[in-house]
Amino acid sequence: MIPIKNKEGIARMRESCAIAATVLSKLKELVRPGVTTYDLDQAARDFIAQHGARSACYGYQLASRRYPAYSCISVNEEVVHGIGSLKRILREGDIVSLDVVIEYNGYIGDNATTVPLGTVSPLVAELLRITEEALYLAIKQAQIGKRIGDISHTVQAFVESHGFSVVRDMVGHGVGSSMHEEPQIPNFVDRKRSRTDEIRPGMTLAIEPMVNLGHYRTKTLSDGWTVVTADGTPSAHFEHTVLTTDKGPEILTIPRPVPFSA
Ligand code: MF3
Ligand code: CO
Repeated sequence: MIPIKNKEGIARMRESCAIAATVLSKLKELVRPGVTTYDLDQAARDFIAQHGARSACYGYQLASRRYPAYSCISVNEEVVHGIGSLKRILREGDIVSLDVVIEYNGYIGDNATTVPLGTVSPLVAELLRITEEALYLAIKQAQIGKRIGDISHTVQAFVESHGFSVVRDMVGHGVGSSMHEEPQIPNFVDRKRSRTDEIRPGMTLAIEPMVNLGHYRTKTLSDGWTVVTADGTPSAHFEHTVLTTDKGPEILTIPRPVPFSA
């Protein structure tokens, strides 16, 4: 069952998502050569605390492991779930994916972006542009009466038409009082899911294309978290949390002061 949020749940989602977006935008401003990914993660921790929120990443449990950082910072060939490290010093030409997931008042906001450091190669710049555009095309599909599969198909067709590949090992997801709710939102058409769920009003969806410059295959490093491309090519990730309404999709992860006054 896909959770449908009521008025109260939607109001809270608006706040948690506004905080997640504000933290992400502040973090983005700190990305420059010479900074370590540890510094960025510490900044994420501080920004989240300043908003009276909690990192939904820190302590997140998968099998017997707990995620040890406050945000996910994934450089170049790292796809997602990179752990900030003092050893990882950012350099001109890197691309850095920042993924911020916070909980506030019992509700979760989830968003991500990929930032280029200075000048990157034209092909990598294209990878970022296409992945971000794929996100916005996907969001446009989040219309009442369409299906989750319309999102999947749109992302895959667009990305592959530009010669890049869509990650298959991780998917977008519903988000609400838990980080991962139904439905799963693959960025590719999955033959095993023949009839996907219909989109209805009041769903909150984390739509998040992860796109590789080379092959879609990934592997997980020995730290148990960091997912990298199997062929070592760069990867990009853009994500918004979106509310479905009768008037169309509404992006919730937009920076705004919280609590809302009106
Ligand atoms: N946005 C990621 C997701 O939806 C965040 C993962 S948090 C971590 O799965 F704890 F797994 F790192
Ligand atoms: Co997510």
